[in-house]
Amino acid sequence: MAKHGAKLELLGVEKSYGHVAALHPTDLVVEVGEFFSLIGPSGSGKTTLLGAVAGFTQPSAGRIEMDGRNIAMMPPYLRNIGMVFQNYALFPHMSVFDNVAFPLRLRKVPAADIQQKVDRMLATVRLPDVAQRRPSQLSGGQQQRIALARAAVYDPRILLMDEPLGALDKNLREEMQFEIKAFHRQIDATILYVTHDQDEATAMSDRIAIMNGGRIVQCGAPRDLYEHPRNAFAASFLGSANLFDVVGNSPAGPGAVKVRLANGTELNAVTGASVAAPGVAQVVCVRPETIQIGPAGTLASGGDANLLQGRVTDAIYTAGTFRYQVDVGAKSLVSVKLPSIRQTSMLECDQPVTLVWPASATLLIPKD
Ligand SMILES: Nc1ncnc2c1ncn2[C@@H]1O[C@H](COP(=O)(O)OP(=O)(O)O)[C@@H](O)[C@H]1O
Ligand SMILES: [Mg+2]
Repeated sequence: MAKHGAKLELLGVEKSYGHVAALHPTDLVVEVGEFFSLIGPSGSGKTTLLGAVAGFTQPSAGRIEMDGRNIAMMPPYLRNIGMVFQNYALFPHMSVFDNVAFPLRLRKVPAADIQQKVDRMLATVRLPDVAQRRPSQLSGGQQQRIALARAAVYDPRILLMDEPLGALDKNLREEMQFEIKAFHRQIDATILYVTHDQDEATAMSDRIAIMNGGRIVQCGAPRDLYEHPRNAFAASFLGSANLFDVVGNSPAGPGAVKVRLANGTELNAVTGASVAAPGVAQVVCVRPETIQIGPAGTLASGGDANLLQGRVTDAIYTAGTFRYQVDVGAKSLVSVKLPSIRQTSMLECDQPVTLVWPASATLLIPKD
């Protein structure tokens, strides 16, 4: 097995189809052994970026370096990069053993070594007893584990995965997330992982790049991205966010700012991870779980906390959490989320409520 993964570096990599820019010039560094995810809506360029690294897609420009060596012109099978697809892409007419052995035979590995490596890989994915079966005789989760085994059997230093759990149902997907993490610890390769599922990315990754329209919008550790989104897109794509249009702001101390919303409300805020260029629209972002909620009059604001009065328009309970929509007037709805253990009973629709949340959880960021 590989001792360690390779460092992957993209420098100004871009891809156009005619006039369509699938990927604008993009820089990206994935560190040795890192679990790195690309997330973004459909069509944002995730597969294009992955294809350029794998060698299936010829970039229009740029360099792709593996441990400092440019591989952009190298054919895929020489890159020492493994690939796992959403639809498994197993060969249906071959046994599981022959599927996993395939990349080794392609590389002219001696038969005795093939037996040993395939056995070891099947043990790693915890399916030691299915070698003689056909893929169709396995469940979806088992097929995906065989696809992992086949991608990693020749010790690639980088593993690429394009929505590998996309075809599985929710419970199996969560189980496979742990499986892939354990697999990563064992093979110790660098992983570049694509998903459109933000929860999957935050659960699994050391770092994440959020993509939109063929560009990386923001890159960072999951917590960093969640707590310090650099614009409205990043804030709403990773987690849910209350976003309010800002029409004016004035400084109120170091990092502190008073903002006026389009609906006339004034809030205490802090400047976020990036500052809007002159003329660029701004919003404030408030995460639903940073807001305290209680029956009207039961909460007070201290210091620079924000306080709004409103009326519950929607109240739902899901898995230990209360979620509320609160009408705070002037056509504005606020989403609030809190653990149900913190509230003796659920607030009711139409009930007048008070909302309180800290200025430090009110982030002034650019809209784009
Ligand atoms: N072979 C192709 N020919 C023309 N356009 C393409 C091709 N492949 C991808 N695109 C376009 O490039 C953009 C990015 O696609 P893709 O990388 O597949 O996005 P994602 O994987 O994030 O869903 C999309 O607008 C898509 O339509
Ligand atoms: Mg894709």
